[in-house]
Amino acid sequence: IRDDPQIVGQYIANYIRKRIHDFSPTPERPFVLGLPTGSTPLPTYKALIAMVKEKTLSFKNVVTFNMDEYVGLPQDHQQSYHTFMFREFFSQIDIPPSQVNILDGNAEDLIAECTSYEQRIKELGGIELFLGGIGDDGHIAFNEPGSSLASRTRIKTLAYDTILANARFFNDDISAVPRMALTVGVATVLDAREVVVIVTGQRKALALSKTIEEGVNHLWTLSALQLHPWALIVTDEDATAEL
Ligand code: GLP
Repeated sequence: IRDDPQIVGQYIANYIRKRIHDFSPTPERPFVLGLPTGSTPLPTYKALIAMVKEKTLSFKNVVTFNMDEYVGLPQDHQQSYHTFMFREFFSQIDIPPSQVNILDGNAEDLIAECTSYEQRIKELGGIELFLGGIGDDGHIAFNEPGSSLASRTRIKTLAYDTILANARFFNDDISAVPRMALTVGVATVLDAREVVVIVTGQRKALALSKTIEEGVNHLWTLSALQLHPWALIVTDEDATAEL
């Protein structure tokens, strides 16, 4: 638990930098990093960008996999997760674009897109560290309440609460928010050797308490983290209000 979102972001950026350094990635053995979107990871991304600029961190031997993407939103739409990630992070660090993996929500065959995403992760030896956030209703990636805890990358219909929560990115126009997304599954996240989740703000307080103080259940999908041997949740004070 840290004081505020900025300190949380700095803490996680330091943590990730240390993990990448300790791993000593090479082109043959890259560090495979899972990444989220949302407003929560922004302070972390800012801190990581600063480290790249001051040359204390490099992403040259890092391969990334994003958690999710909307279905049917043009890739260059302001709110596509593709645009978000390049605007907020990838365009400001030294990662070769060929090492960035983001699900294609406009693929002709969405099921094949999900299957090959899992395959690509597997071919690289799995994800070393999956960084995530949490939805107000406890979802991880777009694993909405009721998702199987054994789920893999797939198409998911968004819950009404999520559409409502994400309308703030679409000029508060609920009808503009896509109804479906491609998302890694709960099991895809749990397969990572390490999972680090950022939870900040009072809006997340209920989800945080359900995640760590109640039993593992498919209604608050991040609660599955309790089963992971190497998991870390970093919060600010506000998010702990219900603990
Ligand atoms: C979306 C994303 C999640 C993210 C959540 C919270 O649902 N698919 O990965 O954790 O939003 O977003 P924010 O950090 O903006 O609260």
